[in-house]
Amino acid sequence: MFKTNFLDKETAVQLANNYGTPLFVYSSKTIIESAQAMLSISAPFGLTIRYAMKANPYPEILKTLQKITIKIDASSGYEAELAIAAGYQPEDILLTSQQIRDNLKSLVEQGVQYNATSLHQLETYGKLFGGVKQFSNISVRINPGVGSGHSAKTNVGGLTSSFGIWHEYIDEIYKLIDRHNLKICRLHTHIGSGADPQVWQQSLAISLELLKHFENATTINLGGGFKVARVDGEKEADMKVIGKMLVDELQDFTNSYGRKLHLELEPGTFLVANAGLLVAKVEDLVDTGKDGYKFIKLNTGMNDILRPSLYGAQHPIAVLSDMDEIGEYVVVGHNCESGDLLTPVPGDPEVLQVRKLTVPAIGDLVVIGGVGAYCASMSAHGYNSYPNAKEVLV
Ligand code: LLP
Repeated sequence: MFKTNFLDKETAVQLANNYGTPLFVYSSKTIIESAQAMLSISAPFGLTIRYAMKANPYPEILKTLQKITIKIDASSGYEAELAIAAGYQPEDILLTSQQIRDNLKSLVEQGVQYNATSLHQLETYGKLFGGVKQFSNISVRINPGVGSGHSAKTNVGGLTSSFGIWHEYIDEIYKLIDRHNLKICRLHTHIGSGADPQVWQQSLAISLELLKHFENATTINLGGGFKVARVDGEKEADMKVIGKMLVDELQDFTNSYGRKLHLELEPGTFLVANAGLLVAKVEDLVDTGKDGYKFIKLNTGMNDILRPSLYGAQHPIAVLSDMDEIGEYVVVGHNCESGDLLTPVPGDPEVLQVRKLTVPAIGDLVVIGGVGAYCASMSAHGYNSYPNAKEVLV
């Protein structure tokens, strides 16, 4: 079918019969293999891998990762609660949220660690916990002034990004931690999703430079953003290369400054993107005449998989059919708008692109790959009042 194939046709048919379509199918084997590639980084002074659960908070995925020592990056108080419900210990969760929820106090009292992403958040934490020795350790997310992303929408560093405390405001941070008797124990710099490998070196160098300002910081968290290839021709992060670079740079830092830093990484995409397939059905076949296009309309769309419509993201698609003949098709979703497009030009959600696919018949199954991350968790849920696709872990 395609590279992410962990599902043969027979199993796809069986799952579709058992659960109906559209259906997200996740592979625990693929998730565990990706996690092991991350866990094999031999960081000189310890390594924590936190799963960015915003990529996919499906409880069975959380349970799979918990068993193999992966901890949690939660991006809201709701996610922290979901992780605890799935069996995580509160101490295993780092909360990096854009919004303070009224459960912050109770989460921290249970043991959740907090990462302040703005001066207002730092002050709020200080007011809640300042002077309480047990909770005096806090982490800060800094916007280092540079960012990176597979699209402008996923670049979260630099002048145009609202994420993290601007790197020139170190003095403001100091005023707040002095006022509230806090200690910065961790420096966090997530700069974007889909970064090319060389960006990691630059990001680490900047983060280490910033860390020199925080003498009590013992952990450096570089966020997520490790690229995966969903379709042929896309680049994938080579964890061996990136891991070695991180290890060497951290060791050099220790040799130069005598500080031993624990390394944290927060992959979302890398752990789950290619561990998910969406099994759907051909709902209809329409065309716009001899100068137009042939469309395959599916019984799913932007309400289950939004990335193509949002970023012009590429997802592999296969028609499960016994036919040998190949045709050129545009694949679209079942929502009533032209934006519900599954085969856009790369990076341009406005423009249709034809794909060479097996000639389909109405009712054939279609499998879409690379949907383990930011699909079930990030879509136009409820649009046209379609129910969400079901999910299953195999
Ligand atoms: N840490 C923090 C603080 C984050 O905000 C994110 C993602 C991650 C880690 C994980 O990044 P990842 O390894 O998944 O790239 N919706 C986009 C990605 C945006 C992610 C936002 N934050 C997509 O579909 O590619």
